[in-house]
Amino acid sequence: MRPDESQIIQLKDYRPSDFLIDRVVLDVRLDPRATRVIATLTMRPNPEGRADAPLVLDGDDLNLRAVSLDGRALPGGEYESGPQSLTISQPPRGPFTLTVETEIDPTANTKLMGLYRSGGNYCTQCEADGFRRITYFLDRPDVLSVYTTRIEADRDEAPVLLGNGNPVESGAIEGTNRHYAVWHDPHPKPSYLFALVGGRLGHVGKAFTTMGGRKVALKVYVEPGKEERAGYALDALERSMRWDERVFGREYDLDEFNIVAVSDFNMGAMENKGLNIFNDKYVLASPETATDADYANIEAIIAHEYFHNWSGNRVTCRDWFQLCLKEGLTVFRDQEFSSDERSRPVHRIAEVKTLRARQFAEDASPLAHPVRPQQYREINNFYTATVYEKGAEIVRMLKTLIGDEDFRRGMDLYFERCDGTAATVEDFLDAFATVTGRDLSHFARWYAQAGTPRVTVRGVYDATAQTYRLDFTQATPPTPGQPQKEPMAIPVRLGLVARDGTALAAHCERVSPQNVFLFDKAQDSLVFTGVTSAPVPSLFRDFSAPVRTTLELTNEDLLILLRHDTDAFNRWQAGQTVAMRLLVGLATGTVAPDGDFDALAFALHDFLARDAERDPAFAALVLTLPGEADVAQEIGTDVDPDAIHRARLELRRILGTTCREALHGIYVRLAESGPYSPDAASAGRRALRNVALDLLAAADPDLGEQLASAQFSAASNMTDRLASLSVLTTLPGEARENALATFGERYATEPLVLDKWFTLQAAIQEEDTLRRVRSLMEHPAFSIGNPNRVRSLVGSFAMLNPTQFNRPDGQGYDFVADMVLRVDPLNPQLASRLLTAFGSWRIMEKERRNRARSALLRIAENASLSRDVGDIVHRSLEEAQNR
Ligand code: TRP
Ligand code: ZN
Repeated sequence: MRPDESQIIQLKDYRPSDFLIDRVVLDVRLDPRATRVIATLTMRPNPEGRADAPLVLDGDDLNLRAVSLDGRALPGGEYESGPQSLTISQPPRGPFTLTVETEIDPTANTKLMGLYRSGGNYCTQCEADGFRRITYFLDRPDVLSVYTTRIEADRDEAPVLLGNGNPVESGAIEGTNRHYAVWHDPHPKPSYLFALVGGRLGHVGKAFTTMGGRKVALKVYVEPGKEERAGYALDALERSMRWDERVFGREYDLDEFNIVAVSDFNMGAMENKGLNIFNDKYVLASPETATDADYANIEAIIAHEYFHNWSGNRVTCRDWFQLCLKEGLTVFRDQEFSSDERSRPVHRIAEVKTLRARQFAEDASPLAHPVRPQQYREINNFYTATVYEKGAEIVRMLKTLIGDEDFRRGMDLYFERCDGTAATVEDFLDAFATVTGRDLSHFARWYAQAGTPRVTVRGVYDATAQTYRLDFTQATPPTPGQPQKEPMAIPVRLGLVARDGTALAAHCERVSPQNVFLFDKAQDSLVFTGVTSAPVPSLFRDFSAPVRTTLELTNEDLLILLRHDTDAFNRWQAGQTVAMRLLVGLATGTVAPDGDFDALAFALHDFLARDAERDPAFAALVLTLPGEADVAQEIGTDVDPDAIHRARLELRRILGTTCREALHGIYVRLAESGPYSPDAASAGRRALRNVALDLLAAADPDLGEQLASAQFSAASNMTDRLASLSVLTTLPGEARENALATFGERYATEPLVLDKWFTLQAAIQEEDTLRRVRSLMEHPAFSIGNPNRVRSLVGSFAMLNPTQFNRPDGQGYDFVADMVLRVDPLNPQLASRLLTAFGSWRIMEKERRNRARSALLRIAENASLSRDVGDIVHRSLEEAQNR
């Protein structure tokens, strides 16, 4: 199958809609197999559109029942219709009312886009192009309308009926078992923010008064019986609302804010106006079923969706090329929230770990694309780490460059200017250019140029002149469609550390009072004066730019930073850099001298003794080695995943052995006492203790098995239970199999917990795992139609098990390819996400590379691929020179 070039949508081809829809009145009569939707659209030609244009409404899988214009039923000759569109070639040239009746089958909707059923309830998902699966519409984000929705359903099937906006009225339908509710949303919005829910749901709620005095009813709806597991989400919502008022001055604007948890959902959650719909894994939590990481994710995603009310809904996107305008900005906002609620440096490290693991990997893969792509075939494939995570880094760099105060003034101006409109990245940057008077056109290149810049830095100390010079160079590797790169505007936050650990007060006029240097040429040099001793440079403090760095620092210098830097991020980074050098050396057979292993082990031992328990969450990060996928990235070519796996085991063994007593001491002292609390400090203690357990197990498997088995039986919360089970999965034998069986039985009726169990087993780096995964697909809890189940079993195998996914015999690739082909006809979005696991195929050694290519070609040859999978498979295979 060759991609059809005419399907490609280009940013440069944007033009405004020829028609506008001012008001939408929807009448939705819910029925499991035949839901009736009557849409009454108040329309007019767009003064900015083409005169004489036909009216073409989008549809997807729709069944048209009737269409009328200004109250007159249209005869067949006056329109053309099919499942994918409704065209009226001679529409009125002034305002008119179009009424369209369609019938849809929510039960048959396995794509989970549009109106579908989950656990017997009705729900919708309209971003990016799902609304056209409900009714014919101008389904594009720059058409903003005021919606009124009447929902009607059977009382027993759907006692709860929710829509966007404020509730207007509700009641019974005489003589039937049906009832209805009417919702009105006064804020104009694009169709992708539409939502409705009907079902049997319990809820928890709370009253909230905004800073302006508006009373808002907050409610979180879940499966009946699970209400007590929604308490944390409700609390996180309230804290998010307060935070957005305090930090961004943003107030909520409706009488209700509802969140509904559903168990079949393609992604994390969706910011529909006043009616957020969530994957239940990001709502439901109890100490018995959720880990500390789950609690942190719930808090972050609740915040993210809430923050969209301003960054996404009040100010939306002109077209889907501007996706980062809402997603990058909203990720930045949720990261700031989590940093304020938890520990800022610890959260920053966690952000950078995900950025590197997901976005840097994407940027180095055939799927690399700019934060604002210039073209796409399937927009659902662009909800990526690049748009979200790198998009957030751009906002963060902007703040670093212009300072906190101007950043806040710029944000205020952006919200003020763009409220109620569909905006662009240019509108966003303009607000900051206005408040600062700065030219941000060079900075804007971050949105357009793909690839991770590589910055190389060399330092030269002149003892006689007491100067220190830093030479910077930068280069960005080629990416698909962008063979040549321009220099980027890179903010470098830096400082100099004396070798005895004190901060050096050196001077350089090109470094701002906030210690930021703007590096915006291919090469540049800084000279510091008054440098009284040879310094160790601490660069990219707080990870001030999303770049890779090559520092000409010795391990000895780095270990000085690990011990002394005032910047917590760079303390962590220094340890990681040394560990990475050792791992790469071990994995590629260019082994470093023993002394280097000892130096790291002793430095960590010293760290454990003096620092670890002062900030356990930070210590847990310092003691965690770079992951196998990170090492593969760093090696970059001819990767042998087995060698990397062995290297990481070996380094963990060395560290565990050297630090054994200290780790054991921590393990004993940090034992859980008192009832579980998900707060960051308690979570940090659990994290450190469980990292200690992992290293002890690497050093002494018998001790590890003994401690982990005891912890597994005694655990009073899911974090400790799962961590011990995770350690046990690395130790083949009866104890592991028994623990897995016990866990599986204990949580047989808890799908979200079984997902963790699927994930742990899929990630076991042993040859038998593929067989294990295949047999788990027969488990009664597994379902090919449920995205959480598929991701936790198949997705985890593909993404978290480098040695088995990349088996030299190609069976891992074949299995995942088979699953992609099986899932695709049911749920193309889910299938195409699974397929992105092949993103790293080109960096593998030759044999594996050939096997991966065959698996990809086998997918590509399929005649009936979805556009989602077709797009990913073709971009993955594209030869570098054609890209
Ligand atoms: N806008 C959502 C968010 O980031 C994500 C999203 C996009 C989504 N498309 C989706 C969620 C489809 C579920 C299904 O918050
Ligand atoms: Zn979002």
